[in-house]
Amino acid sequence: MNREWWKEAVVYQIYPKSFQDADGDGMGDIRGIIQRLPYLQQLGVTVVWICPVYKSPMDDGGYDISDYYSVDPMFGSNEDLDELIVQADALGIKIIMDLVINHTSDEHEWFQQALKDPNSKYRDYYIFREGVDGQPPNNWRSYFGNSAWEKVENEDNMYYLHAFTKKQPDLNWENDEVREALYDMVNYWLDKGIGGFRIDAILNIKKRIETKQFEPDGEDGLAFIGHWILNQPGIEVWLKELNDRTFKPHNSMTVAEANVPDERLSEYIGNDGFFSMVFDFSYTDIDVPITGEWFKFSNWTLSDLKKHMYRHQLVSQEKGWGALYLENHDQPRSINKYVPEQDIHDYSKKMLATLFMMMQGTPFIYQGQEIGMTNTQMDSMDDYDDIATHDQYQRALLAGLSEDEAFAATNRRSRDNSRTPMQWDTSKNAGFSTSDKTWMKVNRNYDQINVASQQHEASVLHYYKQLIALRREGKYSETIVYGAFLPAETDREELFVYQRVLGDRKLLIVINFSNQDRSYPVDREFHNVVLSNYAEIGLNAQHELNLKPYASVILSND
Ligand code: GLC
Repeated sequence: MNREWWKEAVVYQIYPKSFQDADGDGMGDIRGIIQRLPYLQQLGVTVVWICPVYKSPMDDGGYDISDYYSVDPMFGSNEDLDELIVQADALGIKIIMDLVINHTSDEHEWFQQALKDPNSKYRDYYIFREGVDGQPPNNWRSYFGNSAWEKVENEDNMYYLHAFTKKQPDLNWENDEVREALYDMVNYWLDKGIGGFRIDAILNIKKRIETKQFEPDGEDGLAFIGHWILNQPGIEVWLKELNDRTFKPHNSMTVAEANVPDERLSEYIGNDGFFSMVFDFSYTDIDVPITGEWFKFSNWTLSDLKKHMYRHQLVSQEKGWGALYLENHDQPRSINKYVPEQDIHDYSKKMLATLFMMMQGTPFIYQGQEIGMTNTQMDSMDDYDDIATHDQYQRALLAGLSEDEAFAATNRRSRDNSRTPMQWDTSKNAGFSTSDKTWMKVNRNYDQINVASQQHEASVLHYYKQLIALRREGKYSETIVYGAFLPAETDREELFVYQRVLGDRKLLIVINFSNQDRSYPVDREFHNVVLSNYAEIGLNAQHELNLKPYASVILSND
């Protein structure tokens, strides 16, 4: 058993714009996070990941950075961030930051210099190519739609590459000077005492650029860029270098946004892997096709969900270590994705919490998930801030959907579903801000779902606290963190059953992922109930568990 501090961590992800507004301008900030540290401490989390707070024009929610060394004034100052790191540390909470190094903002000084002077050394910091016959170098579609090449103004035939928005030019990692500059920056933040980084879009740093027209895969005549820029051969040299030069000497926690094929996973998360862990997308993107059109339903089943989650468990425990999550700032709320509308209630929310929090790996809880926040309902496209949402709406229209259909499909998957302000209480703006206008509309259901109304033992919030506490302390902690994951066969797809085993201690997790009563025969050695989302546990004389709709039960052999 290889012990590491980050394996024992429970992480809470904050979307700073929407967590807590301390200065009353309608947008969350770092002082707001500082104010809420006691809440996080009571919840029991030990690491807080904050989405980007660097200087940014905010074209893509801060993932377009114009200065890696400064906090954007909308979030506060560098001093505020220093204070957050110190105050959190005093409460036993480490801060991890977002690291966005596949691209910068087009407003970054490097890119500005590159544009201003074609002969400047900064041209080679990015990827510029000449066009062909008045067209871009090839027909790649960026992740956010439209061509991945943007024409340089005032130059005849010159384009730059952007895998995301045109305000996010891709950096040229082939250039040694770029990598050196990035490593210096990473070390600057690590030296301040942060715990590590969540690493954005890192599999895109190596590109296989060809000047030609590829077979289009959409109505727009373009081809999905991922085939040529995701995890390309040679990337491992840079990932190793990045780790050796920065994370490793700091004993950092790193979690990369990286869907790595199983056969390559040990290079990434093994003992001497590039990262501590990576996020797997197979079970969170289960409802959309690989090319990412939100309006195309994948028709997933519970068997698919189980297959992906269990595969991820088995492969990560074999090769290294996994990250567990159901939500983040790029996903809609998990309860709306996995559970039919009519079945959304506290039982199903607690069931989902049990399912993922009891698996092996480091759990990540996204802000509001611990109180069971749900997707939001916008009135019109104007209410959406997210650039991807607007793009997806256009793509749906282009594919022939009516405006209503496109709106509904967009709403179902919009990233703004999870970016609405945190719901603290029933006061104005859910206690998020005193401003008359918040940067994004508060979900209308805040009078029903909020932190203040969940200060009782039957609440979703209390249940999350119990799951976190079980993992952090007491006799089951070691088993939950380090125990092996053993899936159990069941004859029904809606029964998710698995064990966690360490030495003689065994935990059995039984989940009924349906709105019907079910039963499951349990071995007699599991005689002790550790936690359940129903007050009454029906265990009959034949030692069968009678499971109510969406029941989740944790049993132990001692
Ligand atoms: C990652 C981020 C996402 C962002 C994208 C581009 O996927 O999680 O929010 O839009 O990278 O930086």
